Amino acid sequence: MWLTHYFLFPILLSDSIVPTLSLGIGINYGQIANNLPAPAQVLTLLGSINISRVKLYDADPNVLSAFANSNIEFVISISNGNLQNMTSAANAQSWIQQSVQPYISQTKISCIVVGNEVLGGSDAQLMSYLLPAMQAVYTALGNLGLSSQVYVTSAHSLAILANSFPPSAGSFLPSIASYIQPILSFHSQANSPFLINAYPFFAYTDNPGEVPLDYVLFEPNNGTVDPNTNLNYDNMLYAQIDAVYFAMKAMGHTDIPIKISETGWPSKGDPNQVGATVENAALYNGNLLQRIQEKQGTPANPTVPIDVYVFALFNENLKPGPTSERNYGLYYPNGTLVYNIGLQEGGNLPQLNYSASSINVRNSIPYLITTNALFAVFLIRFQ
Ligand SMILES: *[C@@H]1O[C@H](CO)[C@@H](O)[C@H](O)[C@H]1NC(C)=O
Ligand SMILES: *[C@@H]1O[C@H](CO)[C@@H](O)[C@H](O)[C@H]1NC(C)=O
Ligand SMILES: *[C@@H]1O[C@H](CO)[C@@H](O)[C@H](O)[C@H]1NC(C)=O
Ligand SMILES: *[C@@H]1O[C@H](CO)[C@@H](O)[C@H](O)[C@H]1NC(C)=O
Ligand SMILES: *[C@@H]1O[C@H](CO)[C@@H](O)[C@H](O)[C@H]1NC(C)=O
Repeated sequence: MWLTHYFLFPILLSDSIVPTLSLGIGINYGQIANNLPAPAQVLTLLGSINISRVKLYDADPNVLSAFANSNIEFVISISNGNLQNMTSAANAQSWIQQSVQPYISQTKISCIVVGNEVLGGSDAQLMSYLLPAMQAVYTALGNLGLSSQVYVTSAHSLAILANSFPPSAGSFLPSIASYIQPILSFHSQANSPFLINAYPFFAYTDNPGEVPLDYVLFEPNNGTVDPNTNLNYDNMLYAQIDAVYFAMKAMGHTDIPIKISETGWPSKGDPNQVGATVENAALYNGNLLQRIQEKQGTPANPTVPIDVYVFALFNENLKPGPTSERNYGLYYPNGTLVYNIGLQEGGNLPQLNYSASSINVRNSIPYLITTNALFAVFLIRFQ
């Protein structure tokens, strides 16, 4: 559906074209686990909860073929480990020929995410590959006649921000300006969205004494006013999104939509991870879903509904890092809900048919930790 999202936001933008959007919640289908159900079972599960947008961290051919002729629309990814390779036009083209073209006639693929959280990291070499890889993939899609069907973008952590509060003072780290400026020009030319992975959980758990829990969980609260815009923010996620809009504006761009490629809340954590509970996870994701269903926009862009991929579908038992990293799922691997956010009317979701013979081991790829929980470097100043 992203192909029709040439929407522009009224406060920051001059134009305002808002096509009909088929919005719903999207979900990240992470597979760093050795106990997940087979893709065909996952297809049944997603159908039962009416989720039709899925993001993968790779281009797993088993998933893409299992979802052939389904109504599920995929965002697929090129991992950081493949970025250097993808800076070559020939490699990018053969990757698309091998990993995208064979599936795309039967499985909807709307977007390729090139690299995950590269600019928020510390690997300058990797940063230098990012734009060339995005360009090579985009060019190859064009050569193969696919550029009008498939967006090219990347996903960023909020560690790319130097300042995130108040949102109107949002700015990118000066140290990555030379990367981000041409990447914004790329988005502008290619008409693709800017993706962010945003976790109010990190800000809360690092500072539970100062960050009000209601504010991060979308619970009723009086919010906080941005003194420059007088806009009232009643939740941190919206403040984070707007901070990125304002950071882009400070670099001369008011023409690039933002989508949330990851957000979520862990249902369990280590003893020092304050707030990682089933109750909070259910409130965060449940309240977020409600706002998505209401097609809410952020205070600075009220007519642009937030577009979100929740992290994640399953708990992933092989993820490294603190306990929270393995507990972001809405489901246990056996198909039992960790908690119900009311995705389907009536509450109780059908159990996933789980059979041990379908165990799908995926631990051979050196994934990066995607949720950035280990280094929540940006501080939210809450007033
Ligand atoms: C499924 O989701 C679509 C939008 O994503 C919505 O229009 C439809 O009503 C939903 N169906 C059910 C049964 O909830
Ligand atoms: C580079 O990409 C091509 C095309 O996908 C692939 O065949 C090749 O194995 C990759 N090389 C490396 C070192 O990953
Ligand atoms: C909002 O502020 C008013 C006045 O300060 C206070 O009475 C009320 O309890 C607050 N509401 C919430 C939900 O915090
Ligand atoms: C599924 O796994 C969870 C967590 O291990 C467990 O609590 C639950 O009882 C299991 N459900 C079934 C139906 O086995
Ligand atoms: C679940 O498994 C049972 C027993 O193997 C089978 O009869 C049933 O059709 C399955 N249901 C679904 C939805 O796959």
